[in-house]
Amino acid sequence: MTTPMRRYGVGARWYDVLSGERWVYRAGREAGIRLLDPRPGDTVIDLGCGTGLNFAGLVAAVGPTGRVIGVDRSSDMLAVARRRIGAAAAGWHDIVTLVEADAATLDPATLRAAAGGRGADAVFSTYALSVIPARDEAWRRACAAVRPGGRAGIVDMQRPRGRWRVLEPLALLACATGGADIDAHPWRLLERDAADSRSVVRAERKGGHLVAVAAELSPAVTR
Ligand SMILES: C[S@@+](CC[C@H](N)C(=O)[O-])C[C@H]1O[C@@H](n2cnc3c(N)ncnc32)[C@H](O)[C@@H]1O
Repeated sequence: MTTPMRRYGVGARWYDVLSGERWVYRAGREAGIRLLDPRPGDTVIDLGCGTGLNFAGLVAAVGPTGRVIGVDRSSDMLAVARRRIGAAAAGWHDIVTLVEADAATLDPATLRAAAGGRGADAVFSTYALSVIPARDEAWRRACAAVRPGGRAGIVDMQRPRGRWRVLEPLALLACATGGADIDAHPWRLLERDAADSRSVVRAERKGGHLVAVAAELSPAVTR
């Protein structure tokens, strides 16, 4: 059996090509960033950032005075992310910081320090919480690094619906390859921890296979 560390280790350099990004998964991250709606100057934590496929969208939103903190436990995925930062046109070095850590044991103080000693404005996670068995703990720690009144966004997968159900075997294969639990539905963590159900916004893409949810976080989970 492929362990998660090996899957996102030796497989890191192929991830962008083999992950179905272009045809499927990009649509989810774009919907998620739109719903999260980061503002110029914001600091956003990208939890389980992998190779940094969210960076372009997040950097475009937070601008040169903002910060993106990418957290991942795979040094190989972060090596690809680092190359992406280096290859980007002007300025990403000053905006994007990478933290190599297991999100389920990471001290929120580490993230707050990376955010310049204050709480981040938002946490965002795409296709990562369904891979992390201790997702509730990882989520709780990331939220504890967000300032009161801050926002969060989760993009992840579920079984396709309606006439798209014929693609379920492909979706299951993609999840099995990536080590994701398609039935984890991690956006429920955010629905649970939202400040108020009216602040929750949601979008679905690719026949409901991709779910993006964003909301203001409850003061009970931020610090
Ligand atoms: C399917 S990839 C998603 C990467 C990226 N967010 C994206 O949208 O392309 C899942 C990522 O979660 C990371 N990951 C898995 N378990 C983790 C953990 N406990 N702590 C931090 N990162 C973890 C993996 O290393 C991998 O980069």
